[in-house]
Amino acid sequence: MAVCFRCHRNGASAPSSVVHYRTLARKNKVWPASVPSLLAGHEAIRKWGFQMKSSNGYPLNVVSSQKEEPYIDHSKAKEEQIDSTVSITVVGASGDLAKKKIFPALFALFYEDCLPKHFTVFGYSRTQLTDEELRNMIGKTLTCRIDKRENCGDKMEQFLQRCFYHSGQYSSEEDFLELDRKLKDKEVGKSANRLFYLSIPPNIFVDVVRCASRTASSPTGWTRVIVEKPFGRDSQSSGELTRSLKQHLTEDQIFRIDHYLGKELVENLSVLRFSNLVFEPLWSRKFIRNVQLIFSEDFGTEGRGGYFDNYGIIRDIMQNHLLQILALFAMETPVSLDAEDIRNEKVKVLRSMRTLQLDDVVVGQYKGHTRGGRSLPAYIDDPTVPKGSLTPTFAAAALFIDNARWDGVPFLMKAGKALNTRRAEIRVQFRHVPGNLYKRNFGTDLDKATNELVIRVQPDEAIYLKINNKIPGLSMRLDSSNLNLLYASRYPREIPDAYERLLLDAIEGERRLFIRSDELDAAWALFTPVLKELEDKRIAPELYPYGSRGPVGAHYLAAKYNVRWGDLSSQYS
Ligand code: BG6
Repeated sequence: MAVCFRCHRNGASAPSSVVHYRTLARKNKVWPASVPSLLAGHEAIRKWGFQMKSSNGYPLNVVSSQKEEPYIDHSKAKEEQIDSTVSITVVGASGDLAKKKIFPALFALFYEDCLPKHFTVFGYSRTQLTDEELRNMIGKTLTCRIDKRENCGDKMEQFLQRCFYHSGQYSSEEDFLELDRKLKDKEVGKSANRLFYLSIPPNIFVDVVRCASRTASSPTGWTRVIVEKPFGRDSQSSGELTRSLKQHLTEDQIFRIDHYLGKELVENLSVLRFSNLVFEPLWSRKFIRNVQLIFSEDFGTEGRGGYFDNYGIIRDIMQNHLLQILALFAMETPVSLDAEDIRNEKVKVLRSMRTLQLDDVVVGQYKGHTRGGRSLPAYIDDPTVPKGSLTPTFAAAALFIDNARWDGVPFLMKAGKALNTRRAEIRVQFRHVPGNLYKRNFGTDLDKATNELVIRVQPDEAIYLKINNKIPGLSMRLDSSNLNLLYASRYPREIPDAYERLLLDAIEGERRLFIRSDELDAAWALFTPVLKELEDKRIAPELYPYGSRGPVGAHYLAAKYNVRWGDLSSQYS
């Protein structure tokens, strides 16, 4: 039986109720405090036996303690639910991202009964395809986490019947007008909400947005656009992109996606911090020695070199994925879990950061290497990469937040392709215990025996805390062990893909996990000067062998701040 991971609901009835109630709450501007009573959650609990939860964690249908409830017109609410539809148009439907992530995520949401009752999916791209051909294409790549689950085949058939295709040019208003006609055919008699997912290169974002907003936006409901990075190459181009998009859309309609914000463990970061007394009091310069944000992949740019060479690892990973995690990690407690309260805190912390200096950056590029008789290519062997390219495929950086909480604490970032492992994690190294009674048992380097909290985002999601303990026995020998929350053991159920969460949030109008334009400006402001300097001075990256641990320079950078990379220590786990 399908269980919606979002609303924890068993059974298949009334999937769109969650969306509906949330939409109603927003419309009535009562979100979130009075939602429970206003939306008569009692009814939902009685009827479906579950507690609805938004992705910001608010229960939507808990029973209110308020004695007198405001008048609720349930019949009207139900009518609205029945009378609205969502059309999701994936622009760039034949591309890799659409095939690998977006369609599978939509299917998983459908399988879990998390999509609204009435919805249609349209693929849009230049390739000539029939509806059937699109369905075949989607069907072939619908490999997702629920592949092995009950009724997957039937559900897939039902899903595919809701998928349609429209072939068109990206800058043709006529082609989008034609799409509009097809959408209207499906939406007939209903209030139409439209979501456009731009899974296309950035140089055509504005054309598509112009055409879609002029000829294919919804006349009767909301129209939203999800945009994938890159959002420009620097402060200036990003600012221009934002201005151009805003000629056709309001900020509220733009959903800038950073898929790392949809990852389970990144979501859990705030829960860990703000709902556990043992962590929040330690979350400052007083107890934390350094924080490390580490991203590594064990494959190169294979096939994506054309895109990658224009951006490099700093723009591809650090300026967005790692910086977003850092902002969530370091922000002050938000007033509430509302999107704007959280984004206000994130932007504050980003704006408190010191502009990155060249001295605090190390860049690298992978070179060819032969291992076990297998030859691994250099970055510049990629036929889509220009010869002699200096684009970094690895970077390490030391960043600082100049505010009262984090003054002087190095936030070290490291991101690289073609390294020895695939991993994304946050490592928090604590200070040593002052006047530690057991210091004799630790040797001379007390920092080696400090607590470390590791939040492993992927793979093998886990949160573990390294502690010191006594080795059982008659002598007093100390050991370092992990208090370990390994998700696979604690929660055998598979973890939804980040795109599922983010798509559902966009459909529901929940903006918390999307990047606001001022956050984006602050993120670019931090990195733009150093990117310019690296490029103007044509700084040559340090070469590292494909499959290695990356350039030695990263160690020197860490050593400059008296830090050891946690992922490279001998007792690494
Ligand atoms: C993308 C980058 O944003 O994230 C890619 O452009 C990178 O270069 C990818 O491979 C990593 O995402 P994930 O979810 O596979 O870790």
